[in-house]
Amino acid sequence: MMLLLWLTILGCAINNAAAQSGNVRCEAKSSKESGLCIPIRECPYFFDILNGGQPTPAQRQQLADSQCGVVNERQALVERILICCPDSKRSIQGTPARSAEAQTEAGNVLPSSNGSCGWVFADRIYGGTATKLDEFPWMALLQYKKPNNKFGFHCGGALINSRYVLTAGHCLANSQVSQLGWQLNSVRLGEWNTSTAPDCVTELGSGKRTCAPAHLDIEVEQRIIHELYVADSRDRLHDIALLRLKRTVSYTDYVHPICLPLANDMRNRDYEGYAMDIAGWGVTENGTPSSVKLTTTVDVWELERCQQKYRAYPINLNSSQMCAGGNGKMDTCQGDSGGPLMLRTHEGMQEIYFAVGVTSFGPNPCGQQDWPGVYTRVGYFINWIQQKLQP
Ligand SMILES: *[C@@H]1O[C@H](CO)[C@@H](O)[C@H](O)[C@H]1NC(C)=O
Ligand SMILES: *[C@@H]1O[C@H](CO)[C@@H](O)[C@H](O)[C@H]1NC(C)=O
Repeated sequence: MMLLLWLTILGCAINNAAAQSGNVRCEAKSSKESGLCIPIRECPYFFDILNGGQPTPAQRQQLADSQCGVVNERQALVERILICCPDSKRSIQGTPARSAEAQTEAGNVLPSSNGSCGWVFADRIYGGTATKLDEFPWMALLQYKKPNNKFGFHCGGALINSRYVLTAGHCLANSQVSQLGWQLNSVRLGEWNTSTAPDCVTELGSGKRTCAPAHLDIEVEQRIIHELYVADSRDRLHDIALLRLKRTVSYTDYVHPICLPLANDMRNRDYEGYAMDIAGWGVTENGTPSSVKLTTTVDVWELERCQQKYRAYPINLNSSQMCAGGNGKMDTCQGDSGGPLMLRTHEGMQEIYFAVGVTSFGPNPCGQQDWPGVYTRVGYFINWIQQKLQP
């Protein structure tokens, strides 16, 4: 903790502006090695030194010399440090080479976190709250067909293997949706800006233009809602569902599954006090406020405190649910209903994302101070998920 504080304070003194401008080239003070100024978590070389506990004086010096700024909007201290990650160290070491067309598994197999799910790219940069083109490649949009033959996105989800998308029960069983005559039609994968096709970005510095392949719209073969989910219930217990796609998807840099918390310790953890990422287009039953995929960080609440807040309504939450967000920065508005609450963690040198929650409900309007969003706790439903998957 001491080291983190010291680094952060130093960072403020050096350069706070770097945080705002995103993709910034930098040079380490003593070694003069050039690199990219990125969050320390995204630079495994330095992150592991920091995480190793007792850096040597030389390592401390190297960390100090390489710090290039600080991001203030990230909450956990370690999230705020920007480091000049040398080009020579930015390739992923000690992990199997990752190819875009990674092998897909059968529909009844969940990828393991040392395999092909939850990958984060080494070059990923945050620019404000809009995501990079290839960030969170498991994010799915559920497309509904309306009686006037128009289509709309009204829920989100997460790709969990080559054939299934995890979403919320209320996205499929909901009287508001069925009274309006909306029919779930397909799942969109590989989307970034819903107003453009294809999606392209131009790098700030070099002017280099990168385009993603066209998004995929895949029809839904089967809708699997948790048997104990009660449509329109106040408490939204068991608010979880799976969608089986009509065909297997191939993985690319833009279409890729997220990991599920399969290990026992991850499954049973309540994650209270953890910082989580949410991402999406902010879609709800009422529309799609953002055309571009957004992301933000939320903190997980103590369940008991959250239960107390909601009890007056009267909404009774239990430990199959979890609460996060509500610090009044419109944070809960940036995820999608049915979309994942994501834990970013480390497996060796590789950063991995896990879907630990499914967005269930929140205060209306969203983003109210002191009112957290409620999520279905995925760990509680791993057995259910595994039972439902078919090859
Ligand atoms: C998304 O696409 C629309 C329409 O082409 C465009 O006006 C908008 O600027 C795009 N958003 C971003 C962040 O690129
Ligand atoms: C939560 O409540 C529901 C409904 O009473 C019950 O089926 C479920 O087992 C409870 N879960 C936990 C973890 O207490």
